[in-house]
Amino acid sequence: MQPNSAILHEPVMTAQVVAGLAARPGGAYVDCTLGDAGHAVAILEASAPTGRVLGLDADPEAIGPASARLRPFGKRAVVVNGNFGEMDAYARARGFVPADGVLFDLGVSSRQLDAEERGFSFRRAAPLDMRFTPEGASAADLVNGLPERELADLIYAFGEEPRSRRIARAIAAERPIAGAERLAEVVARASGYRRGRTHPATRTFQALRIAVNDEIGALRRGLARAASALAAGGRLVTIAYHSLEDREIKRFINDGDVRPVNKRVLKPDSDETARNRRSRSARMRVAERV
Ligand SMILES: C[S@@+](CC[C@H](N)C(=O)[O-])C[C@H]1O[C@@H](n2cnc3c(N)ncnc32)[C@H](O)[C@@H]1O
Repeated sequence: MQPNSAILHEPVMTAQVVAGLAARPGGAYVDCTLGDAGHAVAILEASAPTGRVLGLDADPEAIGPASARLRPFGKRAVVVNGNFGEMDAYARARGFVPADGVLFDLGVSSRQLDAEERGFSFRRAAPLDMRFTPEGASAADLVNGLPERELADLIYAFGEEPRSRRIARAIAAERPIAGAERLAEVVARASGYRRGRTHPATRTFQALRIAVNDEIGALRRGLARAASALAAGGRLVTIAYHSLEDREIKRFINDGDVRPVNKRVLKPDSDETARNRRSRSARMRVAERV
C-alpha cells in the first residue's frame, strides 16, 4: 500500500544498503531513519521470510504513512516514533538487540521538503520551522532571536558557509524575517553567490536545520549506541548528504568499536544520480562491529 502523499521519498542506493547490511532471513535490523520506509521494505524483502525491521523516525508525521506501507509485513516490521540518539533503548525494549544491522539514512525526506508548512525548503512561502519534532526552538526563533555574532558562528559551523558573517549581518538588518522564502531571498542577496545548480541559501538552510534538530549531537549519540546494540560482526550502514555528517561518521568508524568494510566511501552510480537528483550528494559507509 502506498502512503497517501503526492511525493513518496525515493530511497537512495537501495541495493547497496541491502548488500551493506548483509540482510538475510532471520536477521534483526534497525532502520534509524524510517522516512517513507523505502529502505525498510527492501530490507524486509531481502530478509524474507523471517527477517525483522525496527523502524525509528523522530518525526511523528512520518509514522502513519510508513506504518501503512509496512502493514503487509505484519509482525516482521515494528514502527516507533523516537530519536535515534536513544536507538539502543528502543531496540532493546522490542527485542532487536543484538542487532544484525543498523541503518542511518540521514537528513530530510522528500515528504518533509514537500510539506509547505514545515519550512525545510527555500522554495516555499512557509513559516520557518524545520523541526523534526514539534518541541524546542524553531528556525524562526534562531533567525530572529540569536545575536548576529552567534548566528554567524552557527551558519559557519553547521553550514560550512564561508560568507557567514555578511549573511548574518543581512539577516540581522532585515529582522523579523517571516518565512522560508523571504530568508532565502535575504541570504541569496547578501551572499553574492550567483544562482547555479545549488541555491545560494543552501548552506544557511542546512545550518539552521542541523542546529534546530541538534543533528550532530544526535548522530554522535546514535552511532555510539548503534555500535553497542550490534552483534559481533553486525553491520552499520550510513548515508550522509554533506561533509559535516560524513566527517563525523568517518571519525567514528576510524576510532570506534566498528571497523570499515569498504575502505572508500561508496557513491551512487550515474543512472541513479540521473534519475534521482537528491542522490547526487549521498556518501555511504559500511562498517562492522568488531
Ligand atoms: C532521508 S530520510 C529517510 C528516508 C528513508 N530511508 C526512506 O527510504 O524513505 C531521513 C529521515 O530521518 C528522520 N530523522 C532525522 N533525524 C532523526 C533522528 N535524530 N532520529 C530519528 N529520525 C530522524 C527524518 O525525520 C526523516 O524522515
